[in-house]
Formats: sequence, structure tokens, C-alpha cells
Amino acid sequence: MKDSRINIDLVQRNANRGDRERTLGLFDLSILGIGAIIGTGILVLTGIVAATDAGPGVAISFVIAAVASCMIGLCYSELTTSIPNSGSAYVYAWVAIGQRIAFLAGWTLIGVYITTTATVANGWTGYVKSFFKEIGVTLPHALLASPFDGGLINLPALIMICLMTFVLTRGTSESKWINNVMVIVKLAVICLFIVMSITSVQASNWRPFLPYGVQGVFTGAATVFFTFLGFDALATSAEEVKNVKKNLPRAIILSLIVSTTLYVIVSLIMTGVVHYTELNVPESMAYVLISQGHHLSAQLVSVGAILGITAVVYAFVYAASNITMAMSRGGFLPKKISVINVKTKSPNRALWLIGGVAATLAGFINIKHLAVIANVGSLSVFFLISLIVIILRHRQPDLKRPFKLPFGDTIPIFSMLICGFLLLNTPLHAWIIYTAWLLIGFIVYLLYSRKHVDIEQREEQEALTAENQVV
Ligand code: ALA
Repeated sequence: MKDSRINIDLVQRNANRGDRERTLGLFDLSILGIGAIIGTGILVLTGIVAATDAGPGVAISFVIAAVASCMIGLCYSELTTSIPNSGSAYVYAWVAIGQRIAFLAGWTLIGVYITTTATVANGWTGYVKSFFKEIGVTLPHALLASPFDGGLINLPALIMICLMTFVLTRGTSESKWINNVMVIVKLAVICLFIVMSITSVQASNWRPFLPYGVQGVFTGAATVFFTFLGFDALATSAEEVKNVKKNLPRAIILSLIVSTTLYVIVSLIMTGVVHYTELNVPESMAYVLISQGHHLSAQLVSVGAILGITAVVYAFVYAASNITMAMSRGGFLPKKISVINVKTKSPNRALWLIGGVAATLAGFINIKHLAVIANVGSLSVFFLISLIVIILRHRQPDLKRPFKLPFGDTIPIFSMLICGFLLLNTPLHAWIIYTAWLLIGFIVYLLYSRKHVDIEQREEQEALTAENQVV
């Protein structure tokens, strides 16, 4: 069965239709990337991975995950600069491979971004709870946990997602400063942690550096890969970026460099101040500060985490809504979803659809098991992205590539190998859930998308031909 590809001119026409405002410069974009990357991962996972998988060698796990992310980020950069469209992987797959893979890539990304949003919001509730506890207020468990966890509703998570969705519906030109403030606060508390703790590092705590051997470091890398998710979300902003061909790849790489540097420093300090065996606690950053007697700083870190983690939700709801909008514009999902609000220039229906689903999941469902979609789904899409770089070079050698990866196909091949290796280390239940998500998607594709995409594309092609004749 032949899978049809989309004409690149149609993609460019969609991206240049001008119904969105180009308001994001390099600074905003890098902040958006850092905001999406640094979140619950570093605040929760570092200590746990150090205690159970990698020991002080967790710093090396971060470097391995960072190298993988950088290679994937570079592959993204070649594609985003050649095809600057908000659909990200979904559009690249449609241009390079065909309609069905495009749908599944987009469907996967929507699933990944929604479950990441709900997971992060759940971790956020933990910080809200412990913050109130520290100031002597005990919030009722019924309002802090879903029915699956013995409560009624996870109200803080639900409210926070709705609030971030509302902020996004004001349009990025208005809401980006709120995001910038949240990210700066987050960076400030991480710097505070570094400054307050660096002098308490004792080299003896780093011995042995690899208590679980090299295997432990790799297992740790597969887990901390989650902390880097978010750099890919930047690719979905392509239609709102000024000078997209320069700023987008720069922002992807810059946000990865900043995050990696902070992750490595923080993990070395954590394991240097407290012995790794003591770090199996979710609020490890605050724990390390309290162990040195810095109670006020620990409080400030908790407040910073509460403010800062909201930036992750902001970035992921934004990214998921952009993909949903792009898929609806292509005919894969109902047309009504892609309507852009005239005043705010934001896809408000797509935003509320995504925000609503994520808030419901976070509020009423135990998403612990769904969250594995985030890692396995992202790695599958990243594998595809690397493959598309190679396919597109062969199928469309003349496509303008303002940013082309050096050393031939070496980087995409390495990137595929790393993603493949990490995917092989993913637990079986993650694959089962991800396959179920893909099957649901395929049913949607068969029942709705297939027919509507063809009609939509025929109309778009006719419009393009007419435009070219006029010119
Ligand atoms: N990288 C994001 C985080 O760690 C998903 O919260």
C-alpha cells in the first residue's frame, strides 16, 4: 500500500499563511526551552537515581543523556530550518515518508506532551503539599490525590494546568513574559542551591564514584533522559519565531547547554554534600539544604520549584496545542480545532482541548503508568527524526538547508543508535501502553483522518496551483 507524501510547497504555504504573530526572539525561545527542560526531573529524579542506580556517577549519566539529546537536537535543527512548520515531527514525516507515519508521529507527540504535562503537574502537587506542611498547614488528602490514590481529586494539579492554559490563550506576545519570570525564578533557586552548598562538598562522599558499576550509569542515563525532554518542544514554535532559521537551532542547542551544565553541577554537589545512599527522597534538593542547616534556603527552593515547574506545563501545553492545530489544519483532526483567535492570535480551541485533557488526567487518574509513554514515545519520535534527516537528504537533495549537519550521515546514525539502545532498555509495560496508544490513533486515522486529509490536500493543491498561475 503506497503512503502519500505532501508537497513541500504546500507545507511552506501553510507555515507562511501569517495568521500567527512572529513574537519570539532568541532570548524568549531559549527561555521557553530551558523552561520546558528543567523541571520535576532535576528536582525529583537526581537524588533517586544517585541512590538506586548510579551513585555519584549520576553526573556521568547526565552527560550521556545530554550527548544523546544534543545529537537529536542537531537533527531537529537541520529539519526545523529546512521545514519551519509548527507540526514538527508530524510534518517532517509527511514530507519525507508519508501520511500514515506522519499521523502516528503527531499522535505520539500529542500523547507524549499530554502525559508529560500531567506527570509534571503531579510532581508539582507534591511540592505544594510539602510547602504547606512546612508552614504548618495540612491540606486534606482528598483534594491532593486522584481516586486511584485514595483521594477524590488532585485539585492543585488540575487548577495549575487550567491556569497555564488560560495564560496561553492570551497569546504568546502577552504570556511570554510570565513564562520568562517563572523560568528566571527557577534558575535563581538552582543557583541559590549551588551557592549555599558548594562549600559543604566533601570529596570523601564521592568514593566510590561508581558503586553500581558502568551498567548503573547507563541505567541512570535512560532514566534521567526524562529531564532533557522539552528541547524538542521548541520545534513546534516555528511559526511564531522571528528569523526562525537562525534562532530555532541556536535556542535548541543553547537551552541544552545551560540545562546540562546545571544538571552536572547540581548532581555533583548533591552527592558531594550528602552520601548517595541517603538521597532516595523526592525532594532531594531541599533535603541536602536542610542537612546543612539551611532551612530558609530550603523553603525558598520549594517556592521556586512551585513557581518554576509551572513553566514546564506552559511549554508542553503550548507544544501539544501547536501539533494538534497543525494536524487539524492538514485535515487529520477536525478543522474546527485549528481556528486562530483573531485578537490573541493563539489557537484557543486546541489549547483548551489539550489543557482540558491533561488537567483531567492529572486530576482524576493515576498517571504513573501512563507517564512511561513520555520516554518511549519521545525516543521513538527522536529515532524517526534522525531517520528522516537521512531519508530527506536522499529524496530531496536540493531542498534548501540553512543549517546542515557536518560529517555526512554520521550524526543522525549515531543518534538513531543511541535512541535504539535507550529504547531497548525501556520496560515491557511501557511498550504495551505505547502500542495501545498507537492502536487508538490508527483507528482515528482509519475512521476519520484518511478521508479528510485527501479532500483537504486536493483543495490546498488546487489553491496553490491557482496562486502560481496568477503569479
Ligand atoms: N524535562 C522536564 C522535566 O524534567 C519534562 O520536568
